[in-house]
Amino acid sequence: MNKFIPVSEPSITQKEIDYILDAVNSGWVSSIGEYIEKFERKFAEFVGTKYALTTSNGTTGLHLALVTFGIGDGDEVIVPDLTFIATANAVTYTGAKPVFADVDPETWCIDPEDIRRKITSKTKAIIPVHLYGHPADMDAINEIAREYGLFVLEDAAEAHGAEYKRKKVGSLGHAGIFSFYGNKIITTGEGGMITTNDEKFYERARYLRDQAMSKEKRYWHTDIGFNYRMTNIQAALGLAQLERIEELIEKKRQIFKWYKEYLGDIEGIRLNPEKEWAKNVYWMICLVNEKFDEEKRDKFMKKLKDTGIDTRPFFYPCSMMPIYSKNRFKNKVAYSIYEKGINLPSSANLTKEKVIWIYQEIKTILKNI
Ligand SMILES: Cc1ncc(COP(=O)(O)O)c(C=O)c1O
Repeated sequence: MNKFIPVSEPSITQKEIDYILDAVNSGWVSSIGEYIEKFERKFAEFVGTKYALTTSNGTTGLHLALVTFGIGDGDEVIVPDLTFIATANAVTYTGAKPVFADVDPETWCIDPEDIRRKITSKTKAIIPVHLYGHPADMDAINEIAREYGLFVLEDAAEAHGAEYKRKKVGSLGHAGIFSFYGNKIITTGEGGMITTNDEKFYERARYLRDQAMSKEKRYWHTDIGFNYRMTNIQAALGLAQLERIEELIEKKRQIFKWYKEYLGDIEGIRLNPEKEWAKNVYWMICLVNEKFDEEKRDKFMKKLKDTGIDTRPFFYPCSMMPIYSKNRFKNKVAYSIYEKGINLPSSANLTKEKVIWIYQEIKTILKNI
């Protein structure tokens, strides 16, 4: 048996290699080409939106969407405290301020009640994050957004194919973004996607993504735009992955079942949630141990690593970072959960034998810390 198990590795087959070679051989190696068009069309179909727009990564997708909403200096955007830093940084790039809301103790996604408490006259948007593959409570969030006239940008970077009340994430707000980084459910190496049903938003995002060049007059620019495009080669990889996405999601769900079967009975341990209204895609298998503090958790992770099993800690609350300490609130749930949680090996090519081995090691190590 392979004695090192990473947290994540991509699943690449001959199909991906064939499509990439085809893109390279076609000569269309930059951001024009038929793989871009196909990938966008098929991704929109998959999510259930009218439009999908490729971007260079998930972070640029977030930034581009916020700029397209018109968010900038003096505005506030509410984001969950427990997320990858890119969610908050994209807000900061626009000149707006990320305001950190607490998370729900069960789903670890943004808590709608706390969004209400954080709204001010400057609030312009909410970014719910579908953390680790589980959807946020979108009905409650959309209702607040309607009440206060706010934009909703779904950060679905970690949740391709996850469902909220049988609808795919990325189709539930004004716009959604996805990441195709190498550890995501499907990958393009680096890459991202914006999804939306709003034609005007789509057209403007596309124009801003391409250096804001006038459609009528080439090399004439009336806004400050960006180059946030994906290449045709990346889209070829993305299309091949998208054609396998159902298989990859099913595998993620199977892996979670294996973990649940073995780890589920260990006292004090909790794995990923799945609310009755949700389909979790288990991007990362999560283990929360009520007995962990930062020191115990790190010791546990180190011992697992010594046996060849890689893990990673939960995200720190963003407001804990010195760069965001001015935006700090006492977000009780985020501050209590982060040090109790880790991500276990979660790749789609994990086998049951490996999961059993991971379980045995976990059980032994837990007894001794
Ligand atoms: C929640 C979340 N948002 C945004 C991003 C940014 O995506 P990328 O790494 O493609 O820029 C990531 C991912 O890596 C993420 O996990």
